[in-house]
Amino acid sequence: MCRKKNKTMTSKQIRQAFISFFESKKHHIVPSAPMVIKDDPTLMFTNAGMNQFKNIILGNDPIIHSRVADSQKCLRVSGKHNDLEEVGHDTYHHTMFEMLGNWSFGDYFKKEAIEYAWEFLAEVLHLDKNRLYVTVFEGSPDENLDRDDEAAEYWAKYLPLDRIINGNRHDNFWEMGDTGPCGPCSEIHIDLRPDSERQAVNALTLVNQSHPQVIEIWNLVFMQYNRKADGSLEPLPNRVIDTGMGFERLCMAIQGKTSNYDTDVFTPIIKEIEKITGSRYSNSSEDKIPVAMRVIADHVRTVAFSIADGQLPSNVKSGYVIRRILRRAVRYGYTFLGQKAAFIYKLLPVLVETMGDAFPELRAQQTLTGKVIKEEEESFLRTLETGIRILNKYLSENENQKILDGKVAFELYDACGFPLDLTELILREKGKTVDIKEFNACMQKQKDRARNATAVETGDWVIVREGEPEFVGYDQSETETQILRYRKMKQKDEEYYQIVLSKTPFYGEMGGQVGDRGVLTEKNMQE
Ligand code: ALA
Repeated sequence: MCRKKNKTMTSKQIRQAFISFFESKKHHIVPSAPMVIKDDPTLMFTNAGMNQFKNIILGNDPIIHSRVADSQKCLRVSGKHNDLEEVGHDTYHHTMFEMLGNWSFGDYFKKEAIEYAWEFLAEVLHLDKNRLYVTVFEGSPDENLDRDDEAAEYWAKYLPLDRIINGNRHDNFWEMGDTGPCGPCSEIHIDLRPDSERQAVNALTLVNQSHPQVIEIWNLVFMQYNRKADGSLEPLPNRVIDTGMGFERLCMAIQGKTSNYDTDVFTPIIKEIEKITGSRYSNSSEDKIPVAMRVIADHVRTVAFSIADGQLPSNVKSGYVIRRILRRAVRYGYTFLGQKAAFIYKLLPVLVETMGDAFPELRAQQTLTGKVIKEEEESFLRTLETGIRILNKYLSENENQKILDGKVAFELYDACGFPLDLTELILREKGKTVDIKEFNACMQKQKDRARNATAVETGDWVIVREGEPEFVGYDQSETETQILRYRKMKQKDEEYYQIVLSKTPFYGEMGGQVGDRGVLTEKNMQE
């Protein structure tokens, strides 16, 4: 047990304890900003609690409250902070997660930030002090930055010196993105391993080594600089404290679990997945069934919160990121949990029950969110099967090929709506990769073509039935036929459909010829 007191706290109580603690330290409590960002060209999604305060930190907006705290919905799936590939395979990374944070804008600095963090973890939550480790910035002569002796000195009030560890620029100099506010940081790590393991291996050797039970829980950033586009550092108008604590990891520590997915943030969702699919959950990272369940439990949160925040799945920018995440979940459900029909939308009521009080937007948008997820699932399931079959056929015909042609991956993307990461995922399971350079080149060519054709937007192919078209025009000018697949096209403001027929007498245009024209009559229309 990592807490001295044995009374367990629910995730709702833990979140509330954080808010109440910082309220008692005169912080103004604000709601989470939306997870989808519309007005900052450098970011698609909120990736840290400080995003909504960026303009205050840079001195562009006035400081109204100099002390602020909240629980912020964050998404790390693109750009500088991207955890997507880890999700599901380990027990402590997420696409969407909650970041508990406190800020000081030109008010308190390192001393109080460290005092508050220690008091909250050790005195309020009663985490075992002997399991806590901290890191401080070791300095970077290249940028003329000294070791953070000041932070180390404050920590020394609470911890023996050997548990105050130097960290490099990668781990201990936090930056929002390629540009923007930044500064040295001090992270708090916790060792959640059982005593036998703790005695056998010193946690000092495991901090920042991707050990699933020796993990960072809180990052205290001492913001002092703005990173400019030319890479230089300029001092900020005010010194700023920016902290971020991983809520799900904190719940794991308090509730005495070894996986975020075993906390009450996730167990109701996992139980519902078990109920719907009839599969059993376990903590294994080898067995594909629990991996799939974790992926789905994680991704349903991301997709639901994004839609509730106004970002629908689509084929461009943030909408495409959301679509990819949902498709990733659908594919895991399809392949490893045998789900051939839409089911992820059914998890929504449990998610709303678990998180709807803290984030009322989830409840307010529940109907729309459910409808959108269901439609997306159904549309992707129609093409998924065909895509997997095409890929498997190609792979079995080219067994020795370790790197899939980028062209094949692109065709899967173009014709079956397979995002590249999905193709990569399927290949990785077979020990193969894809030629990304060639994929990108195909993508670029297509973009150029689309631009030349005055921007034609194409929807995904919707498969109505399986099969390949047969040309019968050598001896017939009329035939009975069926629709195999169709997709929506949009050019300027006009919408139309492309269809592929099972049999056709129409010869398509090729090498300068003019394509055949004719009429398609639907049986019911004649009656
Ligand atoms: N902004 C800091 C982080 O995201 C607290 O880790």
